[in-house]
Amino acid sequence: MTEANEIHTPVMLERTIELLAPAIDEPGAVVVDATLGMGGHSEALLERFPGLTLVGLDRDPEALAIAGKRLERFGDRVHLVHTVYDEFEEALDGLGIAEVQGILFDLGVSSLQLDRVERGFSYSKDAPLDMRMDSTSDLTAERVLAEYSEAELRRIFRDYGEERLAPRYAQRIVAERAHTPLTSSAQLVRIITEATPVAIQRKGHPAKRVFQALRIEVNQELAVLERAIPAAVDSLAVGGRIVVLAYQSLEDRLVKRYLASHSTSSAPAGLPVELPEHAPELRLLVRGAELAPEQERDLNPRAIPVRLRAAERIRRAA
Ligand SMILES: C[S@@+](CC[C@H](N)C(=O)[O-])C[C@H]1O[C@@H](n2cnc3c(N)ncnc32)[C@H](O)[C@@H]1O
Repeated sequence: MTEANEIHTPVMLERTIELLAPAIDEPGAVVVDATLGMGGHSEALLERFPGLTLVGLDRDPEALAIAGKRLERFGDRVHLVHTVYDEFEEALDGLGIAEVQGILFDLGVSSLQLDRVERGFSYSKDAPLDMRMDSTSDLTAERVLAEYSEAELRRIFRDYGEERLAPRYAQRIVAERAHTPLTSSAQLVRIITEATPVAIQRKGHPAKRVFQALRIEVNQELAVLERAIPAAVDSLAVGGRIVVLAYQSLEDRLVKRYLASHSTSSAPAGLPVELPEHAPELRLLVRGAELAPEQERDLNPRAIPVRLRAAERIRRAA
């Protein structure tokens, strides 16, 4: 077993393959794994479809190195690119690829990132306040906590953490940093816990939402995803398919809105016939969001929050 096999079980793997299969099971087909991680989904796709070429993107150099090793045996069927996935088109241009038959987004942090205590993603282990998925980028959670105003902290805790106690937490952090710099996750957990009424502490870990919000801010996750989904769908050939696995409601909502708006007619209400230019570009492949099967959720806790959405390009806008 490779290191990657040991540390990550791909979420909803069979369903992902099943949804992509009609589009990618042909010689010369190209699939983009926009969130390569440790290459779990990618490896299975390459094994299952021998005529498939895979482009794997990731912003985390460590993930690329591990996946690169794991996928070495597929030779020139694999192209890996270190990039943030909103640079989707540039990555394909660089490889001379005009359109693709399949796209997968398996969003969020990888178990590798969560397991590396020193990267500071976890509120349950003491570590420096880092939270960068790309260790070569500048913004860390420590800098956010040190440099953002109280209003900005309040906004990110509320918008990205959906945290009702955002004003209280922002105020405590600003008061604390006035005398002691915040450098460790344990320090942040202590401040949040002390600021949380006991009744609320019983409903899950009080720092969970603040950590999620910081991670989203540090990695600009929602802004990047908002640009990436249209860019990705744009590169889909007619008949090409996209599958997205989201683990938190903000990301899922964004994906849902985009896919819904492009899979319905844009004809103004009341027109007797739909003009071709108003016809939808996408067809939804699953009703609403699909959850992981119960058996998978029992075996793999990472699969519990997942929401899968998928669509097929049925027409290209003129
Ligand atoms: C959940 S993991 C993917 C796991 C992968 N499907 C597997 O089976 O091994 C998500 C990966 O996406 C990467 N990622 C997250 N946001 C990204 C972005 N904006 N651009 C590029 N990669 C990103 C993370 O670095 C992480 O490695």
